[in-house]
Amino acid sequence: MGRGSVRKPDPSLDLSQHLWHMDRLPRPWKAEQVFPQPGPVEVDVGCGKGMFLLQAALEHPERNYLGIEKQYNFAAYSAARVAKRQLPNARVVAGDALWVFREVFPDESLAAVHVYFPDPWWKKRHRKRRVMVEPFLRDVERTLRPGGALHFWTDVKEYFDETLQLLAQVTRLQGPVPVEERPARHDLDYHTNYERKARLAGKPVYRSLFFKPQESA
Ligand SMILES: C[S@@+](CC[C@H](N)C(=O)[O-])C[C@H]1O[C@@H](n2cnc3c(N)ncnc32)[C@H](O)[C@@H]1O
Repeated sequence: MGRGSVRKPDPSLDLSQHLWHMDRLPRPWKAEQVFPQPGPVEVDVGCGKGMFLLQAALEHPERNYLGIEKQYNFAAYSAARVAKRQLPNARVVAGDALWVFREVFPDESLAAVHVYFPDPWWKKRHRKRRVMVEPFLRDVERTLRPGGALHFWTDVKEYFDETLQLLAQVTRLQGPVPVEERPARHDLDYHTNYERKARLAGKPVYRSLFFKPQESA
């Protein structure tokens, strides 16, 4: 199955609780209208096929996970994975994460933001399509609660270095805290689908973790 093609969800599966179009999100944001149980909200930006979302939601039932994915077929695929297991703490938004951060999430509303293997957009004239751009990084800082975490992983060294530089320039997030690679115990034991692809291809993966300071000076 190539990039952009993914199996359509079983039409008998009810996705109405798990798949949200970005226009349907409550504005002003009310997490309790999206998740039935209270809990800290973590966002997975560009959740792709939903590997991280599913694993994290299974491992941490006390936390709520919101994937945001701009390709509708991938958003529906991820939503189907969590809907099949009837997970109450995982939801997928079909839409642009930059818009959702800017227009929907209030200050200090998120416990963590995960950005794994964002599209590199190699060509210079396409760079503006990247996710890790200044307005988004400022929105990440604004929407994280004090002590909240930003996880950023990629296999593109240049994107990694540029983003870390930008984070230092435009935010007060503290880091990077290095994150160690964990050996895979079986064929699907990876953090995300793209981490799996990179590691099976023998490529290095660059991982970073940042925290919002507890006190804003
Ligand atoms: C290279 S894939 C990585 C998927 C997944 N995070 C992983 O590590 O396997 C990047 C994903 O981000 C999505 N994406 C890119 N820009 C986005 C945006 N502005 N909002 C939401 N999703 C976006 C793409 O559609 C794609 O599915």
